[in-house]
Amino acid sequence: FSDFLTDTHARQHDYLRISLTERCNLRCLYCMPEEGIDLSPNRDLLTTAEIVYLSALFVNQGVTKIRLTGGEPTVRKDIVPLMHQIGALRKDGLKELALTTNGISLHRKLEEMLKAGLTGVNISLDTLDPFQFQLLTRRQGFAAVMKSIDRVKEMNKLGAGIKLKINCVVMRGLNDHQILPFVEMTREEEVEVRFIEYMPFGGNKWSQNKMVGYADMLDIIRAKYPEFGRLKDKKSDTSKTWQVPGFVGKVGFITSMTQDFCGSCNRLRITSDGNLKVCLHGEAEVSLRDVLRNNNSGDPMDEEAFEAVREVEMARRSSTGGGESWMSKEQELLQLIGAAV
Ligand code: GTP
Ligand code: 5AD
Ligand code: SF4
Repeated sequence: FSDFLTDTHARQHDYLRISLTERCNLRCLYCMPEEGIDLSPNRDLLTTAEIVYLSALFVNQGVTKIRLTGGEPTVRKDIVPLMHQIGALRKDGLKELALTTNGISLHRKLEEMLKAGLTGVNISLDTLDPFQFQLLTRRQGFAAVMKSIDRVKEMNKLGAGIKLKINCVVMRGLNDHQILPFVEMTREEEVEVRFIEYMPFGGNKWSQNKMVGYADMLDIIRAKYPEFGRLKDKKSDTSKTWQVPGFVGKVGFITSMTQDFCGSCNRLRITSDGNLKVCLHGEAEVSLRDVLRNNNSGDPMDEEAFEAVREVEMARRSSTGGGESWMSKEQELLQLIGAAV
């Protein structure tokens, strides 16, 4: 495994999230204001070729999972050809190619994406009530999202093996009454419904009392399903998995607000304008786009650059005896990767 993707917490960053756009075709209350957000000019965004280039570079350094996110990734016109090119990196060690989407247009593109190598989709859906959907997203589209979910299930019945998760952000007084209907969804279907603690984000109107914590969600579910029990999670999972015994599907919890999971976090992220971030909450960023655009060497996999980085890293490890703060480690990792790109 590439040294420069291993930080001094010994976490191997083998999971890369790439945001394809800041744009979205919904306006979820907790995420975006009605008028949308200020968008970066197109020239600042990574091109298809740059995204493929960076994906290849990271896969060659040990990344085995790539998740495409947004905004809403499917509003990017090149999404399908992009997935075909990233999917081709299976030959270099990529094992999973996943997508996080609101599901509005997924059903139209799913078949092509599957051909491209899609292995998982996380679909955001906060309510099973069509009227409430319109209230929470400020747009129409409930039927389209359900159609996408059904399409994935149908394809899986034919053996597609797409890992399907539903992401539901729980807000008190808005959709907490939807917790039990969502759990019920796992009775017969091979799906993981994940409840996400509502987080302050992008200037939304977050307040402590709107957030429903993990413990409260468990109370609600256990009151109806007393046997509800915890399953074992993989080391790098950021969600905690549970199941109603006898049900086919699973229930997960993303407890960003009440229990952090930094110790097991293995993610790297690239923003749509090409900044690399190690932590969702960290400030530190490095512009891979600028490094790419200023590099005229024409050598896409500059092995010498990687070698130089490895040497710097080894020297640093033997000279520093720990005790640095997590943020300085984050900064360091970013610089190392930035230098190697
Ligand atoms: P898989 O584990 O691969 O299924 O994906 P994921 O859960 O990381 O990705 P997804 O895009 O579905 O994100 C769901 C939620 O996870 C987001 O709303 C975030 O709340 C949370 N999340 C994802 N990555 C991180 C992270 O690195 N840190 C924190 N705190 N939360 C994260
Ligand atoms: N709090 C919690 N989750 C959020 N998401 C977006 N904004 C927030 C927030 N403020 C979720 C979306 C999507 C996932 C990628 O992030 O619902 O499922
Ligand atoms: Fe990863 Fe940062 Fe979230 Fe921890 S707080 S899980 S390091 S993004």
